[in-house]
Amino acid sequence: MKPKQQYFRAIAIGLGALAVAASAVSAGCVEAPSGLAPGPTGGGAEDGGPSDGGGLPVVSGRDLFESMQADLMSACGLCHDVAGLADTPFLAGPDRYQSFASWPGIVSTDPTHSLLLTYALTGKGHSGTNLDSPALKETLLPKVKAWLAQEAKNFSEPPPQAGPHIDPFVPIMGFNAIYLGALGPEFEGMAVTFQADVLAETTLELTNIELHPTSKTGLKIVHPLWVVHPLGKDPNPDPVDSFSNVDTIYQIGESGPLGPGTLILVNWSTDAKLSLAFELIEKYEPASPDAGDGGPTGGCKDVPSFEANARQQLMTCLNCHGGGNGQAVAAVDMTALQSDAAKACGQIRNRVNPNDPPASQLFITTNPGGNAAHPFKFGGQGGAFNTFRDNVSIWIAAEK
Ligand code: HEC
Ligand code: HEC
Repeated sequence: MKPKQQYFRAIAIGLGALAVAASAVSAGCVEAPSGLAPGPTGGGAEDGGPSDGGGLPVVSGRDLFESMQADLMSACGLCHDVAGLADTPFLAGPDRYQSFASWPGIVSTDPTHSLLLTYALTGKGHSGTNLDSPALKETLLPKVKAWLAQEAKNFSEPPPQAGPHIDPFVPIMGFNAIYLGALGPEFEGMAVTFQADVLAETTLELTNIELHPTSKTGLKIVHPLWVVHPLGKDPNPDPVDSFSNVDTIYQIGESGPLGPGTLILVNWSTDAKLSLAFELIEKYEPASPDAGDGGPTGGCKDVPSFEANARQQLMTCLNCHGGGNGQAVAAVDMTALQSDAAKACGQIRNRVNPNDPPASQLFITTNPGGNAAHPFKFGGQGGAFNTFRDNVSIWIAAEK
């Protein structure tokens, strides 16, 4: 099919989807918990159909993506598929659209802020093929821009009553790390991590939901609320408001589950986004830090095993987590790896699973065969990763 034909086909499909969306809106949707329902001006989809007058109707970016997928794969796939040379598999299959749209920084409410236009262009630091290279400038680049413009249209705001919130994002099907820095500088480096899986067309399951404060700051959270943002419709909070009873303090340097750590969202739909709001989120400082023992109470059970089996292996991570990259240190502080093994161990222990060592976050994020959005995956070398995992797992098992 010629590109032009494909483009019109995309529009035709888009209009079909629009009609479906419009009828679904007029038929009325799932009821939201009272008090959190979007106000009369909250959505914009109720009156006059799902368009905000900005030019492009709200249709899935999937069709535009599909019309450029082949070009994208031939220009970028060698390095950006799973186990590619770049360690950033934003074109991972089987659902490459899902991977691309969910990669942090690819889609944005302002297309000019997309990594594709701030990084993958000449002179911006990208070591691979750039979108403005002679072969792509007139072909792929305009398609990428059209797609980004469509995606920018497809953002909706969380219900205004929902409190401080993380803006809507497309979840990765797999491991997600959602950073809280957007809520204020005191939350820099803190994250909510979870595994997302679609169980059925309208059911999204989140498991292993954890909250990670930093090694410097603790956190208090009251009543987190997950909100689904269906394409072209009003935001739709978790109908069961599953985490309404959550009121939790995370001590400095000690991660923990968020609520029960699991959530089933029965109001999911294809190509929807998620957002996360909090009734209250604030940094937590113990009443008098120098009264008691001070410092984190957590820590490792078997520091000698950490020293014998993990320390040397983790040296690979020090380029970034040892001080070279502020975001990496804030996320997982390994600065004491060489000077104070017990302290480093206590931080790294937040990212392991002693009951099932290979399922530890340390490995999920760095596995070259996985799709997690982490910038280092052993340069695609499965053998080096296996050596890392096998050795570090000996220590992790000792933490049980
Ligand atoms: C020859 C390998 C190669 C090719 C081909 C390639 N890239 Fe990359 N890309 C990299 C590497 C390596 C990185 C990691 C940082 C760096 O070295 O720039 C990267 C990083 C990126 C990032 C930043 C990702 C992040 O999360 O930080 C973007 C965006 C990107 N590439 C876009 C593209 C696009 C779009 C194409 C195709 C037009 C492409 N790349 C083709 C090697 C490649
Ligand atoms: C090229 C730099 C770099 C290297 C090398 C690196 N990391 Fe990271 N890592 C980061 C950054 C940056 C973040 C925080 C991501 C953010 O803020 O979005 C991070 C975050 C993490 C997280 C938190 C979860 C997540 O995905 O955000 C884990 C776990 C992690 N790294 C493990 C490791 C391990 C284990 C190694 C060594 C085998 C390693 N990292 C090597 C840059 C790096």
